[in-house]
Amino acid sequence: MTTVEQTSSVRPARRAAVTNPGHGDIFTDHMFSMLWSPAEGWHQPEFGQLQNLSIHPGMIGLHYGQVAFEGLKAHRRADGSMVVFRPREHARRFQTSTSRLAMPELPTDIFMSAVNQLVAADQEWLSDHPAHSLYLRPLMFATDESLMLRPSENYRFLLMAFVAGGFFGDRVDTVSVLISRDYCRAIPGGTGNVKVAGNYAPSFVAQRQAQEAGCHQVVWLDAIERRWVEEMGGMNLFFVRSTGTGNEVVTPQLTGSLLPGVTRDALLTMAERLGYRTREERISVEQWRQECAEGTISEVFACGTAAVVTPVGTVRDPAGGDWTVGDGLPGPVTMTLRRTLMDLHHGLARDTEGWLHPV
Ligand code: COI
Repeated sequence: MTTVEQTSSVRPARRAAVTNPGHGDIFTDHMFSMLWSPAEGWHQPEFGQLQNLSIHPGMIGLHYGQVAFEGLKAHRRADGSMVVFRPREHARRFQTSTSRLAMPELPTDIFMSAVNQLVAADQEWLSDHPAHSLYLRPLMFATDESLMLRPSENYRFLLMAFVAGGFFGDRVDTVSVLISRDYCRAIPGGTGNVKVAGNYAPSFVAQRQAQEAGCHQVVWLDAIERRWVEEMGGMNLFFVRSTGTGNEVVTPQLTGSLLPGVTRDALLTMAERLGYRTREERISVEQWRQECAEGTISEVFACGTAAVVTPVGTVRDPAGGDWTVGDGLPGPVTMTLRRTLMDLHHGLARDTEGWLHPV
């Protein structure tokens, strides 16, 4: 089993210096921890300082990737209070992810209690900068000390947090993407529809190719026909199609190899409330290129907890050349949806769906 060690704390000094947090490096002070065993179920809840773990080198989670996680955000509203965006949906998706890896489900009430404790304790880390938030990272991993190829019997759940700025920086700018022709992210029957650690490490070589090609992110195609657009690296994608009767907001259908994003789901609802028609459909990369050339697809954006809503300006396809989306700048539908979502996060719009959980 894992044990905890005390670490020296340099964090108060860092807290004062959080002006440009980036994504994932500025951890807050505390964490929640809980264990699971066959005899005791979930037990030993602990809330305390963020600490290093001491782990056995033969831990199943390290070797065989029995590790699942989530990502959700707490925001500061204009009145100074803190809210968490759709934590129950993240708890449910976490349960789906851990079940897929033969791990126990963490009950929603424990997930919520951990979130409440951590946000209450660490909220002072968050300024009122509109592009900053507290990113909460729930994690579950297998702790058995064994190299037998079998599911672990014991697990640990952790919740930690970091201060997050914009995933692509605090300014809203379009990003460029590379269609990955060498690699794929997920296969039918695989784990593409859940949030498990093993989905992410294999994406790094493709992401590196994107950067070497001068692009910010990779776009994944389906694994069978290698033509249907699935996701961007760790984000869902949306297309804005102009039709004779107005704008349509379209996102790739959840075929089983895409992650069902909580932000994706929220944006589908928001787009409808704003009067756009919404569709979930399969979109091929040829269609993307052709409809951009014809001007039917006028905007494309990525979305996710980390990405929020990020406009895509240019596309590079090693098999089909480069093209620009619209005029290559953030489009009006994208920016309307981004603003609507951020206004909700910051308490500037009414929470008609009950998506905000006050802490
Ligand atoms: C998120 O959007 O929260 C993600 O988990 C994607 C990635 C940054 C890990």
